[in-house]
Amino acid sequence: MRNIVLAGFMGTGKTCVGKKLAGRLGIEFVDLDDVIEAREGRLITQIFAEKGEAYFRGVEKALVREFSEKTPFVIATGGGAVVDQENLRLLKKSGVVILLEADIETILERTHGQTHRPLLMVADPKGRIKELLEARAPFYKKADYAIDTTSLNVDEVVERILSLVS
Ligand code: S3P
Repeated sequence: MRNIVLAGFMGTGKTCVGKKLAGRLGIEFVDLDDVIEAREGRLITQIFAEKGEAYFRGVEKALVREFSEKTPFVIATGGGAVVDQENLRLLKKSGVVILLEADIETILERTHGQTHRPLLMVADPKGRIKELLEARAPFYKKADYAIDTTSLNVDEVVERILSLVS
């Protein structure tokens, strides 16, 4: 079985959906951000603050390479991972890349009040979300499939993915 890779913006449900999906398929789930935090021994926010985004992207890239060589996993990527062409290429090679999407208001609502996403810790998170979504659109559209999660619950998204992959 090939990997199932969940890509997409922060707040689109990659982690919740990924865990449930892996349970349904009886395969292992990995959240690349969690692995980064465990290996670096600090939170993503600390990594960004202390070492900078470029350092984080380097660690993320190394992990993408590592997990692209293993199967079968359900992999939840960080929202910026597939913006790197090489990452996207490796992830696609290892399995099917499914983009989870949501509208701006929903993303704002789902990420509101959370402190673990450094890119959204700004005065105008809505403006930042809009800006990042626009910049990432050309990369996100290269995914194999896209599911709009705006009005779906976790189980419904899982069912849709199962019907895509089985
Ligand atoms: C990021 C998304 C985060 C995390 C980091 C950067 C991004 O992951 O990797 O804060 O660039 O969109 P989630 O999408 O799991 O929140």
